[in-house]
Amino acid sequence: MSLVSVNNLLNLGLGIGTDYVPDGEIVINQITTAIEAGYCHIDNADCYYNQAGVGTAIKNCIDRGIVKREELFVTSKVPDWKQGYDSAIKCCKESLRVMGLDYFDLYLIHSPNRPCEDWQKGVLDTQRALETLYREGLVKAIGVSNFALRHLEFILREAEIKPMVNQIEFHAQHQQKAVVEFCKNHNIQVIGWGTLNQGRMFESDIFNSLAQKYNKDIAQIAIKYSLQKDVVPLARSIKKERIISNFNVNDFTISDNDMMLLDKLDGKGFSQRACDEYCKPIKMVPANSQEYTPLKYKRTFKLFNLIPFLTEKKYRWNKTKWFLFGLIPLLKITKKDL
Ligand SMILES: NC(=O)c1ccc[n+]([C@@H]2O[C@H](COP(=O)([O-])OP(=O)(O)OC[C@H]3O[C@@H](n4cnc5c(N)ncnc54)[C@H](OP(=O)(O)O)[C@@H]3O)[C@@H](O)[C@H]2O)c1
Repeated sequence: MSLVSVNNLLNLGLGIGTDYVPDGEIVINQITTAIEAGYCHIDNADCYYNQAGVGTAIKNCIDRGIVKREELFVTSKVPDWKQGYDSAIKCCKESLRVMGLDYFDLYLIHSPNRPCEDWQKGVLDTQRALETLYREGLVKAIGVSNFALRHLEFILREAEIKPMVNQIEFHAQHQQKAVVEFCKNHNIQVIGWGTLNQGRMFESDIFNSLAQKYNKDIAQIAIKYSLQKDVVPLARSIKKERIISNFNVNDFTISDNDMMLLDKLDGKGFSQRACDEYCKPIKMVPANSQEYTPLKYKRTFKLFNLIPFLTEKKYRWNKTKWFLFGLIPLLKITKKDL
């Protein structure tokens, strides 16, 4: 029986983020270091393209007796382009196969549908798939990610099994107070991504001065801030010393006054995207020198998203298909005009 669940997720502390971490040796080392350091919560997704490596690291750690499967809390997500009943079920089963797991502790709808025509249908069909996976025991909990108030209201109205989690961007510089409040009132655990504002937090004077005051580093202050707000933090690092230090935040508490100081940073930092901006065109993100190549690649990829021949090989056929479909109405109009 699983020893971890959404109900005690906050007690597990920081979860390790795996987005932008290249598959293979790098992600295997990252997850192995994290598990050895005591992390139990591993956040992954179909679209991080490193599931095989994450699965290998988990299996190695279990085989070496460092951890038991039931002590780990592993999350995966179905991306918006795999929304729909059959495709979501297929996606989950394929992720389990690639990772060598029997079940996920949490399975999420990664975001409301994009592009936004009829997002309700995509979300609802996917929700039904998650409910089936939950009933079959392939996922121990289900939830959503990047859902704003209107998406949450919709899903709560329609769901047979309510989402147990909403994973959203959350940190002092982007607090999404209304969404967090709504989730608390509806017994939905908030998991916060971008806890370190993807590296941008390190420029803040207030974070700097609090780090000095508490004799901690900025990342530890940011992680503790989330925990004291009852939001489960996720942070990503591929550096051994950072993976370890990020996890060790149990020996201090940020005072109420200092929490209020951090509260005032809301909206002051750069945020990749607010929940409510889903179903709108994505904002481009300025390049950040701290990020490694896959991130830059992903951003470039967004630019060329609409040009099928320039996209990554695995997307090329899908993009080309939609591109050709798009031509049909154009050809009809031209024919009529002639
Ligand atoms: N549901 C969603 O839509 C969604 C969206 C985004 C992210 N997420 C999840 O949330 C996780 C975390 O968010 P994120 O990856 O966007 O960014 P993040 O954790 O806020 O920031 C990661 C950046 O901070 C650096 N860093 C980590 N620890 C540090 C430390 N102690 N000192 C200095 N720099 C440090 C990392 O660099 P180094 O690697 O060099 O240390 C990396 O550049 C993701 O990996 C993913 O699992 C979910």
